[in-house]
Amino acid sequence: MQIDIITLFPELLTSPFEASILKRAIQSDKVKVNFHNLRDYAENSQKQVDDYPFGGGAGMVMKIEPIDNCLNHLKKNNSFDEVIYLTPDGEQLNQKISNELSTNQNLAIICGHYKGVDQRVRDHLISREISIGDFVLSGGELAAAVLCDSIIRLIPGVLGDESSALTDSYQDGLLAPPIYTRPASYKGWDVPEILTSGNTHKIEQWREDQAMDKTTKQRPDLLKD
Ligand code: ADE
Repeated sequence: MQIDIITLFPELLTSPFEASILKRAIQSDKVKVNFHNLRDYAENSQKQVDDYPFGGGAGMVMKIEPIDNCLNHLKKNNSFDEVIYLTPDGEQLNQKISNELSTNQNLAIICGHYKGVDQRVRDHLISREISIGDFVLSGGELAAAVLCDSIIRLIPGVLGDESSALTDSYQDGLLAPPIYTRPASYKGWDVPEILTSGNTHKIEQWREDQAMDKTTKQRPDLLKD
């Protein structure tokens, strides 16, 4: 998979890709992540990337030309399965969307900043709008890191233990059951006995029950479908 991220602030985005699972995914060529600084695609000598909103109002608006120039440049070598714009008023990200996106070969992600992008970008240049939740960030960069992390870990071979992504919360529509490691007893707080019993069938049943209990208590909305 290749992900091209278009941003005014690439420095906000680099470190999440330089550690742990994302770093390994890049090193093992499971994914290639490219950052593109929008300022490099600005047209005038001041490299202007934003401007005042028509009709007045607070905040600056990201101009369409640098974004269009950047996408056209990238499209010379690439055809994107999706061009995603990150915005708090987009479709809310969930595991189903991450699963879907992880099957693509080429994604472009546009990070908004300031008041957002000129509406014509949204009307003509993108295929999908995604929000990572009902709150407003200073820009789309941190949202892009979240989106990329949730997608990349699902690419086959990225996680060491293949089954590990399958047992994540939400993957089967339920929250994940509690997990423990050694020591079996700490300050009198004991690990549930069943987990040290060696009875794999009963352990599996216990995990399923715990996942169902936890979901019923904490996220009953997930059980509606
Ligand atoms: N940009 C600003 N806030 C955002 C959010 N909640 N999700 C995606 N992009 C954003």
